Amino acid sequence: MMKIAIMGAMVEEVEPFLDAGEHEPLLKYFKKHNDVEYAGNLYHEARFKGLDIVLGYSKIGKVNAALTAATMLEKFGCEMLLFTGVAGAVNPDLKIGDLIAATQLCQHDLDITAFGHPHGFVPEGKVYVEPSRELLHMARSVAEEKGIELKGGIIATGDQFIADAERKAWIEKTFEADAIEMEGAAVAVVCDAMQVPFFVLRAISDAADLDATFDFDEFLKHSSQVSSSFVMGMLEKI
Ligand code: ADE
Repeated sequence: MMKIAIMGAMVEEVEPFLDAGEHEPLLKYFKKHNDVEYAGNLYHEARFKGLDIVLGYSKIGKVNAALTAATMLEKFGCEMLLFTGVAGAVNPDLKIGDLIAATQLCQHDLDITAFGHPHGFVPEGKVYVEPSRELLHMARSVAEEKGIELKGGIIATGDQFIADAERKAWIEKTFEADAIEMEGAAVAVVCDAMQVPFFVLRAISDAADLDATFDFDEFLKHSSQVSSSFVMGMLEKI
């Protein structure tokens, strides 16, 4: 049976899977879960329509995300990873609540340019890591079938909450980024290294500007719900 990791960074980002709300099938399914605590995180094991699921959140940031992703693959044996959560918009076409699937992910705060390397690059690595084409394709067909608008674009990850026009503009210019968050590229590096197909979905919670902290608090729950519901739609198709 296929084992799938569903991962977020914050508890709010995975709560829609565990809570009631509009999502009766989710509730029914996750009621039968088994909880495992490992290395400071809680993992929920469950089953859904012939799939084994491991659901968890990492806590914020690249290091936490890499630990959780590696745990889901190595300890739990997940063969695929779907990341769900929220992001700040860089591309002005992205508005609060919009969905973006990463087509490439990079680390905007990885910097050994002092040695002549480009931003986001370390030897034997690559600036951009790409998610599974099959999963992106599947996401597009889920969006089409459900009449949901799904954008694709470059997600830049770093250990910084961006609430500053200058830094945001720099990330956009340097990486052609469409959205920014704090975990996606870490998960991407782990899955890419372990050759496990992955997919990173984010719903916009703020515009990474001066209002970002206010908007983030206001829209975290709603945007988390938007992203989780979409991932649920994908699970139904796998
Ligand atoms: N996640 C959501 N909004 C963000 C922002 N503005 N910066 C970094 N990560 C985010």
